[in-house]
Amino acid sequence: MNHEPYKLIPEDFLVLPSLGGSDPKLHFVDGFGALDAIGVLVPSEGDVPESVGLHRETLESAGFDGKPGTTLQLANASGTLVVAVGGGKPGALDADGWRKAAAALVRATQKHSRIGFELTQSFDGTDASGMDAERLGQVLAEGVLLARYSYETLKSRSEPTTLAEVQFLGAGLDTAAATQGLETGRVKVRATAIARDLCNAPPSHLTAVGLASAAKELGKRFGFGVEEFNKDQLIELRCGGLLGVNAGSAQEPRMIKLSYQPDGSATGHLGLVGKGIMYDSGGVSLKPSDPMHLLMKMDMGGAAAVLAVFTALRDLGCKAAVTGFLMCTDNMPSGSAYKLGDVLTTRSGLTIEVKNTDAEGRLVMCDALTLAVEDGVDGIVDIATLTGAALMSLGQLTAPVFGNEQHLVDRVLESGRRADEQLWQLPLERAYRPQLDSDIADISNLGGPYAGSTTAALFLAEFVGDTPWAHIDIAGTMQSDKDDAWRSKGATGFGARLLIDLALGYSAT
Ligand code: BES
Ligand code: MN
Ligand code: ZN
Repeated sequence: MNHEPYKLIPEDFLVLPSLGGSDPKLHFVDGFGALDAIGVLVPSEGDVPESVGLHRETLESAGFDGKPGTTLQLANASGTLVVAVGGGKPGALDADGWRKAAAALVRATQKHSRIGFELTQSFDGTDASGMDAERLGQVLAEGVLLARYSYETLKSRSEPTTLAEVQFLGAGLDTAAATQGLETGRVKVRATAIARDLCNAPPSHLTAVGLASAAKELGKRFGFGVEEFNKDQLIELRCGGLLGVNAGSAQEPRMIKLSYQPDGSATGHLGLVGKGIMYDSGGVSLKPSDPMHLLMKMDMGGAAAVLAVFTALRDLGCKAAVTGFLMCTDNMPSGSAYKLGDVLTTRSGLTIEVKNTDAEGRLVMCDALTLAVEDGVDGIVDIATLTGAALMSLGQLTAPVFGNEQHLVDRVLESGRRADEQLWQLPLERAYRPQLDSDIADISNLGGPYAGSTTAALFLAEFVGDTPWAHIDIAGTMQSDKDDAWRSKGATGFGARLLIDLALGYSAT
């Protein structure tokens, strides 16, 4: 008989299991050492590399066509598994292709601990996509480590990943630069894994208060400032949006302010705002029971991505100052909940008529946008699981981006391309703005039946004034139904790597 008092949430629950384990060793080698499995890049046409030991016809008859992202496992007399890894057109693999190939290899060698990857392409800095050794190292590390991620912490019989070492073998590589790239990739994946852990955590395990203490730990460890604002302080700040959404909750809200300051003078000051709805029940406008609503524990995916970004800035030598706002609460129905028809007064002074309590994301975000503008940032990027319409329009692979200044939107788009976190710009169609008109307040939180992502963006735009601003809606991309290239099943951590890239290159003009 166990006489310990029952605990709903186990005391040893790890908010960030990814930081607990040990990372596999990744390195470039001149020749392979002892290995359990060897991946060989095999292009879709031309000669098959010798180490595969088979002709193209044989590979083709087994269904391997060499397309990027495909693999074929080959039994081998020596006991070392050989995996043909699709390389596409000879010599033409780009950064996304290499990341995908490395991820595919890891997925094909789940039971192996020491694997090799023969890159079978020469790298003299003049390859078709103009990729250099540093970038190659980075995307290889990203592919390997992102594919290796899985959330096991709550399984009593978990399947630990066995991967201990990856040896990369490539001809003509600048190994020093490539090794530097591996380190960069490792830091970006560490950040992404933090975002994934936070999103995968069950909603009752990770409250707004819990996220604030996780942020404080991370701040100490990775060199950024963390300020926590409790309910009384939020009242002091007149953050009526966040407080309104929190009204129905048994849990206190938190605003978490993050700050990173580079050594020396900053190239610019970037503001990041993340939606941190710890669980979105819809509130009084209760969501119907639907498997989709399992995902509402990930309604803090924007806040998770922003927090993740800060864990990488010092280690990657970011030259810009960055300030982040995470707006955290759950959205619950109860006797004290905010109601349809309620009017909230925001920090900006603007009053909002609540026409739907499930359009809560924009309500918590608006106060943070106001605070970022007050801080005098040079530009703001917000990221939020804001609208089901984003999932409907662009699906799970592409996130819509909106903005009030094309230069900033272009930078965000470019960072998305470099991270393979796909974005597509949608127009901030001002003609739809009257849909947000209210009879009794300055603005309502609900647009019409169409272009739901756009009307949500138009709402946010009201709070940024002339400050350059971009908004990324990750309702579709925060989660993957299946293991797919660098995305592991569950939370994707979408946005972390793209926003790190943005911060690293950010300047005021
Ligand atoms: N968190 C949801 C958006 C969402 C939907 C995220 C699906 C991930 C997957 C958001 O708070 C919401 O409920 N939005 C409503 C807005 C509507 C009431 C105007 C929506 O999109 O239906
Ligand atoms: Mn909602
Ligand atoms: Zn929501």
